[in-house]
Amino acid sequence: MRAEDSEPVYVSDALIAEDIDAYLETHQHKTLLRFITCGSVDDGKSTLIGRLLYDSKMIFEDQLEALAADSKRVGTQGQDIDFALLVDGLAAEREQGITIDVAYRFFSTEKRKFIVADCPGHEQYTRNMVTGASTADLAVILVDARKGVLTQTRRHSYLAHLLGIRHIVLAVNKMDLVGYDQATFDAIVADYRAFADSIGIAAFTAIPISGFRGDNITGPSQRTPWYDGPSLIAHLEAVDLDTARDAARPFRMPVQWVNRPNLDFRGFAGLIASGRVRPGDAIRVLPSGKSSTVARIVTLDGDLEQAVAGQSVTLTFADEIDCSRGDVVARADAPPQSADQFEATLVWLDEAPLQVGRAYWLKLGTQTVSAVVREPKYAVNVNTMEHVAAKTLDLNAIGVAEVSSDRAIVFEPYADNRTLGGFILIDKMTNATVAAGMLNFSLRRAQNVHWQPTDIDREEHARLKNQKPRVLWFTGLSGAGKSTIANEVEKLLNLMNRHTFLLDGDNVRHGLNKDLGFTDADRIENIRRVGEVAKLMADAGLIVLTAFISPFRAERQLVRDMLPEGEFIEIFVDTPLGVAEQRDVKGLYRKARSGELKNFTGIDSPYEAPEAPEIAVNTVDMTAAEAAEFIVRRIMPLK
Ligand code: ADX
Repeated sequence: MRAEDSEPVYVSDALIAEDIDAYLETHQHKTLLRFITCGSVDDGKSTLIGRLLYDSKMIFEDQLEALAADSKRVGTQGQDIDFALLVDGLAAEREQGITIDVAYRFFSTEKRKFIVADCPGHEQYTRNMVTGASTADLAVILVDARKGVLTQTRRHSYLAHLLGIRHIVLAVNKMDLVGYDQATFDAIVADYRAFADSIGIAAFTAIPISGFRGDNITGPSQRTPWYDGPSLIAHLEAVDLDTARDAARPFRMPVQWVNRPNLDFRGFAGLIASGRVRPGDAIRVLPSGKSSTVARIVTLDGDLEQAVAGQSVTLTFADEIDCSRGDVVARADAPPQSADQFEATLVWLDEAPLQVGRAYWLKLGTQTVSAVVREPKYAVNVNTMEHVAAKTLDLNAIGVAEVSSDRAIVFEPYADNRTLGGFILIDKMTNATVAAGMLNFSLRRAQNVHWQPTDIDREEHARLKNQKPRVLWFTGLSGAGKSTIANEVEKLLNLMNRHTFLLDGDNVRHGLNKDLGFTDADRIENIRRVGEVAKLMADAGLIVLTAFISPFRAERQLVRDMLPEGEFIEIFVDTPLGVAEQRDVKGLYRKARSGELKNFTGIDSPYEAPEAPEIAVNTVDMTAAEAAEFIVRRIMPLK
């Protein structure tokens, strides 16, 4: 759960009891700082968070209830909580795995509200850290004064910096255990500064603290007279927020939905990603480029004279221009770029590694497109920050690669705008979020190639041939009988005066795809190219037959999605492995079993059978000729 999803219940402020409205009013106008805490488990994170919650006396009621479950000593008033008990409760939560997902906690001081994301420290929790960090203004990196800068410290700092967190606090904790020794603190700070410089962290604030004893948490500690910087809370209250920086940039608002309650009202709702907007401002809708002016800024509390980054509003325009979900409304004279090829930094978040060349859904703000990742330029060793060569990205790996999408997206580099530069990749088959990404820049070539419209279109090609184009996509194991059956089908269609073409795996691999082997990535590319060729042939009006193992659902789906509804017909040649292997027409199964041939489908390379093919046949119950007849009857009529 994200804390902001539910209205928090405050339990400690006396004002609540007296005048709830006045309380909410003052509270509402406080700014909100989001930050993350990271460090190893024993760096004292639970103690520090406990200390922040305890000292600020602001705790969720549900947290209290959870913590109180073990003890009747906890009352409903924040002040009554025993500090040690609170810390125990937070630590126990962690152990029970409640914090496997990021735990968001809310607290507040006189000056500001805070949401702290408590990110687990181990490398396997990179996903959680990415989730927490992607919306944070600040990161508190905890270091144990007795241990100094560790591998984890470096990894967390690198990730925080990578995810665009501009404020880094180096909290040197457990100062009580080193006798509040200035030299120890200075040495750790110097050590960290050298590291921070090396990864491009320009500035950070180092604070000597003791979460356990409360030193330099809410106010200056008597025990560190040599330290004259701010306490942790004072610093958290004073840092400038990302929203302030975003407000100074040109106006951009990704459109979340179109609000059209009746014919007289058409509003475009969204969260302002950057800049400010006023009625009368000239705007442009991207990617179409249509322009208009803002007529009204509508909110539930009435119209506004101005709105800024971080606010959710509905805009109406002076003109009836096309605008829908996924578009971006921007200042007319300073629009963001759009492109379909980028360099991006990716954090891989899935057990299944990146499949180079596979199409994933790319979601950026309110835009969703289909996108492919190329072989990484390099991966980053997150413990040493070294660049290493990589063919793919495994769970928790970070790498830089080119990404191309099937249509242009409106974006800004992540470093300038997290909303328009940050994206996620989603596996089309499992719907799992497999990566978080940051767009670095667009590649020039994308901007110089445009679609060239032609006058003789696919309908015209098909009309002349007096048929409806089809792609008959045969899939199945090697030796299942795909080529044989496809060949029989083509002969029958030929007798019926149909214009056909058969693309066969072994043949295409002699020409167009002779640079490809049998790794997962090569098979994906093989099918992508064959899909493109089949699509061109269908555009030319042909009935295309393809005979490829095409072992992955994702790529068969990709080809299906390239074609108009109903044109792709998946034909599963469902011959069992045992039968294909026994026939072994080409002698390849024998080679695969003896280890002479690697990555052989069905032996040491997977085959994902279709879940809902249009047609299924096999060569155990039917002859190839019978299967062909069966298929032709199923696909008629072809006009
Ligand atoms: S696919 O997996 O990329 O779709 P494709 O259909 O083009 O494969 O090629 C499969 C044909 O290549 C097989 O029928 C077989 O003759 C040959 N082949 C050679 N090595 C392999 C292998 N390792 N796995 C599968 N087929 C192979």
